[in-house]
Amino acid sequence: MAQIFHRSTNALSRITIFGGVFFLAVLIWAADQWTRSSYMTGQDVVLHQPVPFSHDHHTAQLGIDCRYCHTSVEESAFAGIPPTATCMNCHNLIWNESPMLEPVRQSYATNTPIQWQRVHDLPDFVYFNHSIHVAKGVGCESCHGRVDEMPLIYQAETLQMEWCLSCHRDPAPNTRPRDQVVTMGFDPKDHGVDPAQLAEEYNVQSLIYCSVCHR
Ligand code: HEC
Ligand code: HEC
Ligand code: HEC
Ligand code: HEC
Ligand code: HEC
Repeated sequence: MAQIFHRSTNALSRITIFGGVFFLAVLIWAADQWTRSSYMTGQDVVLHQPVPFSHDHHTAQLGIDCRYCHTSVEESAFAGIPPTATCMNCHNLIWNESPMLEPVRQSYATNTPIQWQRVHDLPDFVYFNHSIHVAKGVGCESCHGRVDEMPLIYQAETLQMEWCLSCHRDPAPNTRPRDQVVTMGFDPKDHGVDPAQLAEEYNVQSLIYCSVCHR
């Protein structure tokens, strides 16, 4: 029987099949890059805030403890954002003419909270709780990075499931003494502690089953 297609179409179809597979691979790769991009995760993005509050200034330079402002981080799921009154403890006296602080004075005078934009925001189907992490000796730094070096705060990690799991599989290396949870630039060697031993002492578990975070 005569050939219906010329021999050269074999090569052609091979090229198209290969091209199709290649194109699909590129698409999948692009989609993966897209979901990991900071546009999707919010990582490293600095948001515009009503007041340019500097963590660098207030923590590293003035030495204010994180818990002075994020008061509920040890007892509750939420760390908490300080009310304007906390700012006014100092700013009714210091820099009380600064134009940069005008929205703070306005908020205080009119008793309306400052509308801070959320930097970290997990989807509603994920359960997260600060207190357990703090109680088990996980430092703020392990999840939020060097906040003391951020003039304007940003999300240091992806907050994707894989990131949570990478620690949950083996949290021991991220264990530090409970009284060091807010320390920035923590190095176990400076404190003569062994994270693995501490993890044992605090009975740190590896929690990776789905219902831990999806309830
Ligand atoms: C003087 C008060 C103050 C201190 C001290 C302070 N913070 Fe904050 N923090 C704030 C305010 C106000 C905001 C909200 C404005 C913003 O996001 O910049 C905030 C925001 C944050 C956020 C982002 C919240 C979000 O929207 O997701 C994190 C994380 C954070 N602080 C961690 C820390 C850590 C860690 C420390 C200690 C090293 C610390 N803060 C010390 C006042 C403070
Ligand atoms: C414990 C005292 C204290 C608290 C509490 C505090 N601040 Fe400050 N803040 C200071 C001091 C001191 C300076 C000025 C430091 C310098 O420039 O040397 C300052 C500077 C600032 C500046 C820069 C002002 C300018 O004109 O450069 C802003 C903005 C600011 N603070 C916002 C806030 C906000 C918002 C809060 C509440 C979440 C807050 N501060 C809480 C002590 C404080
Ligand atoms: C195990 C990781 C982890 C640790 C440790 C951690 N955080 Fe967070 N933090 C998060 C995540 C995740 C969110 C976002 C929560 C959400 O969207 O519901 C968050 C949100 C916040 C917020 C915004 C308000 C809120 O509660 O949602 C502040 C402020 C904050 N963290 C401060 C701190 C401070 C201060 C410490 C240390 C004492 C700390 N965090 C330790 C992961 C962590
Ligand atoms: C740097 C390490 C680390 C990271 C990152 C981390 N966790 Fe954890 N998480 C822990 C440790 C340690 C515990 C306590 C385990 C135990 O009970 O001994 C814990 C416990 C929990 C619990 C159990 C709370 C309870 O009451 O049973 C939840 C929920 C949780 N983490 C959610 C998350 C989520 C969601 C993320 C990511 C957004 C995350 N964690 C990221 C270390 C981490
Ligand atoms: C330590 C906490 C943690 C555990 C354990 C966990 N997840 Fe997640 N999961 C998350 C977080 C955080 C997100 C949100 C990720 C994001 O916003 O990109 C998520 C998102 C998801 C999503 C939405 C799709 C996606 O990837 O964004 C699915 C489906 C899911 N998880 C299924 C599971 C299943 C099934 C298990 C058990 C094998 C599990 N998760 C265990 C934290 C966890």
